[in-house]
Amino acid sequence: MTDGAASTAPAGSTVTVLGLGEMGTALVGAFLDGGHPTTVWNRTPEKADALVAKGAQRAANVRDAVAAGSLVVVSVKGNENARALLESAGDALDGRAVVNLTDGTSAEAKAVAEWAESRGVAYLHGQIMTIAPGVGSPETVVFYGGERAVYDRHRAALDLLGGRGSLIAADAGVPALYGMAVHGTMWGALNGFLHAAALLSSEGIEVKEFLEQAGPSVSALLGSFPMIADEVDRGEYATPYGALQHHLPSAEDLVRESRARGINAEFPGFTVGLVIRALEEGHAEDSYARLIEHFRRP
Ligand SMILES: NC(=O)c1ccc[n+]([C@@H]2O[C@H](COP(=O)([O-])OP(=O)(O)OC[C@H]3O[C@@H](n4cnc5c(N)ncnc54)[C@H](OP(=O)(O)O)[C@@H]3O)[C@@H](O)[C@H]2O)c1
Repeated sequence: MTDGAASTAPAGSTVTVLGLGEMGTALVGAFLDGGHPTTVWNRTPEKADALVAKGAQRAANVRDAVAAGSLVVVSVKGNENARALLESAGDALDGRAVVNLTDGTSAEAKAVAEWAESRGVAYLHGQIMTIAPGVGSPETVVFYGGERAVYDRHRAALDLLGGRGSLIAADAGVPALYGMAVHGTMWGALNGFLHAAALLSSEGIEVKEFLEQAGPSVSALLGSFPMIADEVDRGEYATPYGALQHHLPSAEDLVRESRARGINAEFPGFTVGLVIRALEEGHAEDSYARLIEHFRRP
């Protein structure tokens, strides 16, 4: 690594952003607002126009763009494209630190990190946990993976993207996993909520009205996650109350209610299937977290 020095990059250090889609454009805005001279490049050059008007420097090609920034941030579609762009910069990458904020699988992120390492380029992979308008918010979470010295050196600039950024692992693939874990949880919860909304609206109940009453119950769900996490981490599922056998009647009621109203019962039906299988396997007295075994199977 050529950027391994633990010293901090000076305030207002030069930044380059490759990729000016919805996300890249927001990233540039945050760097400019934070006082960093920012050079930009995009495959379709016109997308830089508005940013140039705000004070960004336009580079004619990737190589010039990379040469202009001590910190090079990449945000494009797909890590194959991210890597190809970086490769095309050639020796302009020497002495630069790359932060790749391009989404993909953990293996794809690691492949770019391994390429960077083989090339002697300081590298972090980042998973930004917001849509573009959330970039720069003090509440925005960004997961970074890579070398601590690189993160520390560029932390001031990176914190402009999201106030809740953190280095979570030395492994550049882990941020993608964290991101997927959040999204997977989100989609599970959203699907459950939308099914519930279909159920309520079939009775003419406004979903907002439901939330006014049931909000605390729904919010309490998040409070159960630390206990589930602990059980899964320990692999112990004994519980004195709320065991799997007690979930089955309620889940079956939900399926019956849905069918009776002509509402898609696939989502609660999936839950019923999981619980029945666990009961058949002898886990009736275990907590809900026992169902992790289903998700661990291929
Ligand atoms: N948008 C969000 O809210 C959001 C949120 C979290 C994470 N992300 C992630 O941020 C990254 C960028 O997303 P985005 O929303 O900004 O995407 P986008 O608006 O669809 O823009 C895609 C960007 O990738 C560039 N690109 C695509 N193929 C390329 C290639 N072969 N070579 C060079 N550049 C190429 C595009 O260049 P052209 O302009 O020339 O087409 C454009 O700059 C993705 O990994 C996305 O998953 C986005």
